[in-house]
Amino acid sequence: MSIENAYNVWAEQYDSNENKTRDLDKITAIEILSNYNFENVLELGCGTGKNTKWLLEKAKKIIALDFSQQMLNKAKEKINNNKVTFIKCNLLQPWKVNNEFVDLITSSLMLEHIKDLDFIFKQAYLKLKPSGIFFINELHPFKQYNGSKARYESENGTEVLEVYTHHISEYLITAKNNEFILIEIQEQFDNEDENEIPRLISFVFKKN
Ligand SMILES: C[S@@+](CC[C@H](N)C(=O)[O-])C[C@H]1O[C@@H](n2cnc3c(N)ncnc32)[C@H](O)[C@@H]1O
Repeated sequence: MSIENAYNVWAEQYDSNENKTRDLDKITAIEILSNYNFENVLELGCGTGKNTKWLLEKAKKIIALDFSQQMLNKAKEKINNNKVTFIKCNLLQPWKVNNEFVDLITSSLMLEHIKDLDFIFKQAYLKLKPSGIFFINELHPFKQYNGSKARYESENGTEVLEVYTHHISEYLITAKNNEFILIEIQEQFDNEDENEIPRLISFVFKKN
């Protein structure tokens, strides 16, 4: 099944099924982004709007992009606010957003579905204002090395989505090649237990 269709099916239960990755993303994204000021935000792969909702507390304008119509429908059920524009699009095509329009781009749990990180960093550079921030929260590659993949249960059994592993070095090199500076890197553990493999990796990059 294509990634887009898999999320169209997952949408119905995405907010309610057990999902430690989704829950830890929300906690850590709020924690990290509370230290930054922003007005115009571009959210990549906004899904059901889990993060759009709290980003709205600080943002003046949010453009939230996703290619799954069903995920977007769930987001629109939750959020009816003229500060937010939801757009259905494939992030592997040039983003139809004005250049140098936003001061924050966020990407939570989306890049594991993207093979070509370089394209995403190139688009992000174009859309960010000078010194804008690119925040990434993603399934930690160590988890991926151990076989973790985005998945959900359906009446047809377990649906495992198409994913790509990005090594930490790949994020850092791709960011550097696209004129981003690393501001923060964090590893997020379940129950703050640092003896376990970290679940998430968080990056804050700044447009140079
Ligand atoms: C795991 S969900 C994360 C949703 C949300 N960011 C969150 O943290 O709950 C990944 C989202 O990325 C979207 N996505 C994946 N690949 C995409 C692509 N190429 N273009 C647009 N959206 C994409 C999916 O449709 C899905 O809604």
